Amino acid sequence: MSERTIALVTGANKGIGYEIAAGLGALGWRVGVGARDGQRLAEAVAKLRAGGVDAFAVPLDVTDDASVTAAARLLETEAGGLDVLVNNAGVTGGVPQHPGDVDVATIRAAVEVNVIGVVRVTEAMLPLLRRSASPRIVNMSSGVGSLTRQSASTGEEQTGPLSVAYAPSKSMLNAVTIQYARALAGTGILVNAGCPGFTATDLNNFRGVRTPQQGAAVAIKLATLPDDGPTGGYVEDAGTIPW
Ligand SMILES: NC(=O)c1ccc[n+]([C@@H]2O[C@H](COP(=O)([O-])OP(=O)(O)OC[C@H]3O[C@@H](n4cnc5c(N)ncnc54)[C@H](OP(=O)(O)O)[C@@H]3O)[C@@H](O)[C@H]2O)c1
Repeated sequence: MSERTIALVTGANKGIGYEIAAGLGALGWRVGVGARDGQRLAEAVAKLRAGGVDAFAVPLDVTDDASVTAAARLLETEAGGLDVLVNNAGVTGGVPQHPGDVDVATIRAAVEVNVIGVVRVTEAMLPLLRRSASPRIVNMSSGVGSLTRQSASTGEEQTGPLSVAYAPSKSMLNAVTIQYARALAGTGILVNAGCPGFTATDLNNFRGVRTPQQGAAVAIKLATLPDDGPTGGYVEDAGTIPW
């Protein structure tokens, strides 16, 4: 294993994922840039490298078994392993998502990337992470996945539009995060979920109010937790999010 920290960020060609890659690279880490489109991947890697980041390309579609298996192999050969996995890739699944007016394909699309994709990538990377001295798994969730916030009828706690695809997919991702944290307790692998806040990216047609750099901060914090740091958490910049 290399003495430098090796990270993989999925969905790192744009938006928050790109800024997570840039932020981890600024720490002197080697960063695997995961992206499903070859051209977008090459452009992102070139831009990161021009900015001084030791970035390398990891072709990666989180919905594709063969792609994920090949990515794990590439990390082994290119970087000698993996210390930090940031499961950032995400989709809304499309619209409409309003209860009473939804196609199950919309739900399936959201769950395929936001939940099954995270599990697929995590399973493939776990053998590498188990060999790391300070392994971390960061799952990019969302505050809209909070059942407490979804069920709050009014007030500040309530969040996000009505949704039977995106928000519930993040609720399931939260549960998946807890399950991995429980299973990996005592192994040194810290597993946490983070919410970037409402961030201006393609995901919401740039309606978000935070910059992608601001959105990346929570993931960078969770990626750099000390060895005695928390596991099984769900946080945003302001602190813990109620499940
Ligand atoms: N923006 C917000 O306000 C907000 C709030 C809460 C949580 N989040 C979460 O933050 C994360 C990043 O979102 P973002 O706002 O930065 O969105 P974004 O700009 O739309 O970026 C999403 C990234 O995921 C990638 N992706 C989608 N499907 C993929 C697949 N099958 N395999 C690999 N990569 C895939 C996209 O690649 P392509 O370019 O190829 O499509 C892109 O790189 C997501 O998990 C999102 O749910 C965002």
